[in-house]
Amino acid sequence: MFTHKRYTGIIEHYRNRLPVSETTRLISLGEGNTPLIQLQNIPRLTGKEVDIYVKFEGLNPTGSFKDRGMTMAVTKAVEAGSRAIICASTGNTSASAAAYAVRAGIKAFVLIPEGKIALGKLAQTLMYGAEIIQINGNFDKGMALVKEIVNHAPVTIVNSINPFRIDGQKTAAFEIVDELGDAPDYHCLPVGNAGNISAYWKGYKEYSTASETHKAVTDKRPVMCGYQAAGAAPFLAGKMIDNPETVATAIRIGHPQSWDLAWAAQKESGGWFDMFSDEQILAAQRLLSQHEGIFCEPASAASLAGALHDISTGKIPEGSKIVCTLTGNGLKDPDTAIKQCIATHPVTVEAELNAVKKVILDCL
Ligand code: F0G
Repeated sequence: MFTHKRYTGIIEHYRNRLPVSETTRLISLGEGNTPLIQLQNIPRLTGKEVDIYVKFEGLNPTGSFKDRGMTMAVTKAVEAGSRAIICASTGNTSASAAAYAVRAGIKAFVLIPEGKIALGKLAQTLMYGAEIIQINGNFDKGMALVKEIVNHAPVTIVNSINPFRIDGQKTAAFEIVDELGDAPDYHCLPVGNAGNISAYWKGYKEYSTASETHKAVTDKRPVMCGYQAAGAAPFLAGKMIDNPETVATAIRIGHPQSWDLAWAAQKESGGWFDMFSDEQILAAQRLLSQHEGIFCEPASAASLAGALHDISTGKIPEGSKIVCTLTGNGLKDPDTAIKQCIATHPVTVEAELNAVKKVILDCL
C-alpha cells in the first residue's frame, strides 16, 4: 500500500539534528518547508549572468522565519516544565511566540515598542491572545528588561538568545542544501538582532562537517552577506548604537544580541556586512512585488537590495548562485505597502459596462 508521510514541521523532519528525544512533545504548526523560488525577471534586469533564489520564509504559519526557532524554543520550554514564555520584539517574534504558546497551552508575554510595530504583527499577537506589554522605548530597551525579568518571574525567554531558537532556525540552511543539492555561493540576509545569520551559518557548518552521527552532506559553505538598514547599522558602525531608526521596523535594532556569533559568521565565511537606505530597501521590496509577484515585508527586502548592489559592483561575481532570505510576509506591514502605492491608487468608476471598458481599453 502507498503510504504518504505527512509533512509536520521542522523538528519531525530534521529530528536527528535537533535536541529532542522520542518522548519529547513537539509543539508545531507545520513550519518550514518553505518555497525556494528562482527569480526569473530580476536577474535579467541586472544585465549579469546570475542565478538568484529567494527562500520565502513569509510563508511560515505566522508569516515569518521566527516559527522555525519558536517551535524548538517552545517545545523545549514545555519539556522543561515552563508555564510561560516571554520575549521582546519588533513584531514577528511576538506573533510567533503568541501562536506557539497557544498551541502549547501556556502563557506568552511580549514586550513591544509602542507605535513601532507593523499593523499585521500587532493584529496577530492580539488575536492569539498574548499578554502584550507596550513600552515607551525601543526593542533594545525591551530586550534588556526581558533579560532582567527572568530573575524575578517564572518565565522562559524565547528571544534568539535562547539557543533552541538558533537550532530551529538553522534548518532553513538544511532545506536549501537539500533542495539545491549543494550550498549556494552566496547567502544574503537582513540583519537585526543577528540571530538568523548566526543560525544559517550554524546550519551550513553542520551540513558540511562530519560527526560521529552524520556524514558531511556537502563540503561547500556559502559566503554570508548581512545587510542592515542605514539608520540601524551597528555592524557597520563597529559598535552598538542607541537610537536606531528605519522604516523597516523589524530590524530597528541598535544592540544586537548575537553580536559575536554574527561576526564569526562573517569572518569564517569570508563574507561582509553592508547597509542600505530606507529608500533602497523599499525600492527592492517594490521590485520583487512588481517583477516577480513576491510580496515580502520591508526588512526582508534588505537581502535583495544588498544582493543586487553587490552584483552590480561585481563583489558578487557573474556565474554565482545566490540565495536571499525573505524573512517575513508583505502582509505584515500593509501601511508601508499602501503608502508606497499612493501614486497608483485605484480608480473608481460607475458600476456600468462602458465605464469599466473604457478604463481597460485606455490601459492596453
Ligand atoms: N527580518 C524580519 C522580518 C524580522 O522580523 C527580523 C527580526 C529580522 C529580519 C532580523 O533577524 O534579528 O535574527 O537578525 N525580528 C525580531 C522580532 C527582532 O522581534 O521579530 P535577526
